[in-house]
Amino acid sequence: MPWDLVKLNDGTSIPSIAYGTWTLGNGDNTVEWVDQAISVGFNHIDTAQAYSNEEEAGKAIRESGLARQDIYITTKFSGRDGLSIEASIQNSLKNVRLLLFQRSIGVSNFGVADLQILVNSAKIKPVANQILFHPYVLDQQLPIVEFGNAHGIVSEGYSPLIPLTHQPGGPVDKPVTAISSRLNAKPEQVLLAWAKTKGVVVVTSSTKKERLEGYLAAGDLNLTTDDIASIDDAGRKGARRLTARTVVHRVALVALAAAVGFGVAGFLGVDVI
Ligand SMILES: NC(=O)c1ccc[n+]([C@@H]2O[C@H](COP(=O)([O-])OP(=O)(O)OC[C@H]3O[C@@H](n4cnc5c(N)ncnc54)[C@H](OP(=O)(O)O)[C@@H]3O)[C@@H](O)[C@H]2O)c1
Repeated sequence: MPWDLVKLNDGTSIPSIAYGTWTLGNGDNTVEWVDQAISVGFNHIDTAQAYSNEEEAGKAIRESGLARQDIYITTKFSGRDGLSIEASIQNSLKNVRLLLFQRSIGVSNFGVADLQILVNSAKIKPVANQILFHPYVLDQQLPIVEFGNAHGIVSEGYSPLIPLTHQPGGPVDKPVTAISSRLNAKPEQVLLAWAKTKGVVVVTSSTKKERLEGYLAAGDLNLTTDDIASIDDAGRKGARRLTARTVVHRVALVALAAAVGFGVAGFLGVDVI
């Protein structure tokens, strides 16, 4: 089994790779994409009230013919409809039309401080925390994963392919390209395999059948310790570059604001020094 089941703190289990629907929109195409993912072997679907495609996810699952206990679905309360949490979740149930969600409760985008408050106060500990996870945010996100591990909260890592989709040309490309050539794998498979080594449940997506098959096969890729370290190091390098670029942008903005301020003051005849 390439992507094993992961045990949750309430006794249930989830598949360690999920098919996400965030970018899929809604309508018939979305049903087809989710259906395609299920047909290649995904049995963990990630939707959300905010994605406006709970209905489509539910429809694809119902039409797949899989028994309810053989598929895991996550949805997320958005808080945008002004309803109570309970009423809003009832709506999600109606949208998905799958008769039941498990009682598992998760959170998303919680940092260590948020989790600490929750662990100290909640009657029911969340089973999972869904967070951004890719090499360029490794140092920022690893403490959250480690805190989760220490408290029985599984981390789900979304957008693991950001180095390919949003930050191509960064330092991570080099080791990923070298590893994918050596293993005769696609770069996206290497990134998914890398995320897997960090112990997170991977939440990814694609509209393409071949890619989805590759994602599932990536569960069998064996990265060496050196492979993992090379991606970690390149991720850190990229993160430092981004930080440096942010600082430069901020300094430029401050300089621009000051120049405009002096200009306006001069125009009004106000002496600012
Ligand atoms: N909780 C939250 O706040 C939150 C936030 C964001 C996302 N999520 C969840 O995480 C899921 C996955 O997020 P994501 O879509 O950002 O994940 P991702 O796995 O980083 O990216 C998936 C995208 O990568 C593209 N892709 C794959 N291989 C590629 C390559 N070699 N070159 C260029 N593009 C490539 C795919 O495009 P093709 O369709 O063309 O294959 C697909 O659109 C979402 O659907 C959602 O369920 C949760």
